[in-house]
This record gives sequence, structure tokens and C-alpha cells, in this order.
Amino acid sequence: MALCQAFKAEGWFVIATGRSTNQTTSSDFDAFIPADLNEIASSPEKATEFTSKVSEYTAQSPLKALINNAAIQILGSTEDLKPEDLTLSFNVNVLAPFVLTQQFLEQLTANKGSILNIGTVHAQATKAEFPAYATTKTAMHGLTRSLAVDLGKKIRVNTLAPAATETPMLKAGFEGKPEAYQELADAHPIGRVADVSEIAKAALFLCSDNASFITGATLYADGGVLSRLHDPC
Ligand SMILES: NC(=O)c1ccc[n+]([C@@H]2O[C@H](COP(=O)([O-])OP(=O)(O)OC[C@H]3O[C@@H](n4cnc5c(N)ncnc54)[C@H](OP(=O)(O)O)[C@@H]3O)[C@@H](O)[C@H]2O)c1
Repeated sequence: MALCQAFKAEGWFVIATGRSTNQTTSSDFDAFIPADLNEIASSPEKATEFTSKVSEYTAQSPLKALINNAAIQILGSTEDLKPEDLTLSFNVNVLAPFVLTQQFLEQLTANKGSILNIGTVHAQATKAEFPAYATTKTAMHGLTRSLAVDLGKKIRVNTLAPAATETPMLKAGFEGKPEAYQELADAHPIGRVADVSEIAKAALFLCSDNASFITGATLYADGGVLSRLHDPC
């Protein structure tokens, strides 16, 4: 929601999406189109249907950016994860962004637009129980680079890769565990996790004309965590 707020505050016409239909109107966005990215990845009909709905709005307000922010994070050890967990993760985190790129390429090219994929530090350094998430998000980082090369003369494509960010999901995971939360904050050289507005500001930059020569890039908004060597000595 922070992304929607930040882009709207800068005058963008914001179309949000997600599976849940309990908040389809909000001052944070201009339109909401319910969609399941797993379905968009698996069904050409669903993908076209979604594109048609978006195009009803972009006929008036030309499409300048596609932000692939939605993701699924299935945690589990290598022994416990099921192949279906990897398939679902791949569909939502990689294949849907690719299908949406195909769907909106013409509009984005016509409007000198760009794509922003929201990646993660897990594409560089991860931890136990993250094979489904880290593997598919790493593929998303690769998708950015390959699309930037393949579509170089048409659109810009970048990745913004945050470290721990204070989203409702993160806060819920640490409810009743203030010490663990503090440990997480301390692990970042900057001494805290990111505020959602900090990630949104970086997203705004990458989608703006100020980033006009930036494509194929991965911007790590990581509070320095990837630079720290975890050495027990
Ligand atoms: N929070 C962090 O610490 C952190 C750190 C690094 C990177 N990131 C990245 O930042 C992005 C946002 O993360 P978050 O923390 O805001 O996660 P979140 O709270 O779990 O939000 C994920 C969003 O994805 C949507 N979504 C999930 N599955 C979907 C599906 N099949 N179809 C359509 N929408 C779907 C959800 O909406 P519905 O439930 O309505 O479908 C929700 O809006 C993700 O790409 C994540 O990998 C987050």
C-alpha cells in the first residue's frame, strides 16, 4: 500500500491489484482490479481478461510503469517443501511478471515506460527454510536483466531489492517477540529495518525520468546487511 500512496502523492494514476476483494476502494489508489497472479501465469484467458480491465483505465491515463510487487513466500525445509510449493512460487514470483510484461509491452513501449520488479536480498544471501522464496526471487532478478537486454530499445526494466521492511506481514511475524525483532534490526549495519516509505521512494526514482539511463539494474535497499560478514570469530 505504501507504493500506491507514494505514487499517488506524486500525481500518478494508480491501479492496484491483489486477490482479496475486501478493500477495493481506498484513497491510496485510483482503481483496484482483483486478480490472482497464479491464474494469470497459468491461463492466457485470465491474463487477457486482466489486461482488458487495466486497458479500460489506461485508455485515458497512459501506462507508464508496471510494478511487480506481489509475491508469495512459502517457508519450509528442503525435506518438507513439496514440488507444488516451488511451482506456485515460480508462477507468482516469476512467470506472472513475465506474462504481464508481454501483456503490457506495447503500451509501455508507446509511453516510454518501465517495469520495476520488487526483488529481495534473498537473491544474494539467504537462510534456512527459504529455498522456494530465494530460488524464485533470484530468478526474478535474472528476469530483470534478461528483459533489460531483450527489450533495451523499448522499455527500462529494473529490480528494487529490499532487506527487512516494516510491512504488516513482517510485524505480524514478530508479534510478541520484541527481542527477536531487535536482533533483526541490529543485524542491519544501519541499526533498523526499512520503513515502507523508504522503499517506495526508491521505487519512485527507478520509475521516473530521473532514472532514464538505468536499466537492468538491481538497487539493493538493504541497510547495509549484504555488506556485513557474519563471522563467528
Ligand atoms: N517485507 C519485507 O521485509 C520484504 C523484504 C524484501 C522484499 N520484499 C518484497 O516486497 C514485496 C511486498 O512484500 P510484503 O512484505 O508487502 O508482502 P505481503 O504483505 O505478503 O504482500 C504481498 C502482496 O502480494 C499479493 N499477492 C500474494 N499472492 C498473490 C497472488 N497469487 N495474486 C495476486 N496477488 C498476490 C497480496 O495480496 P492478496 O493477499 O490480496 O492477494 C499482497 O498484497 C514482495 O515482492 C516481497 O518479496 C519484502
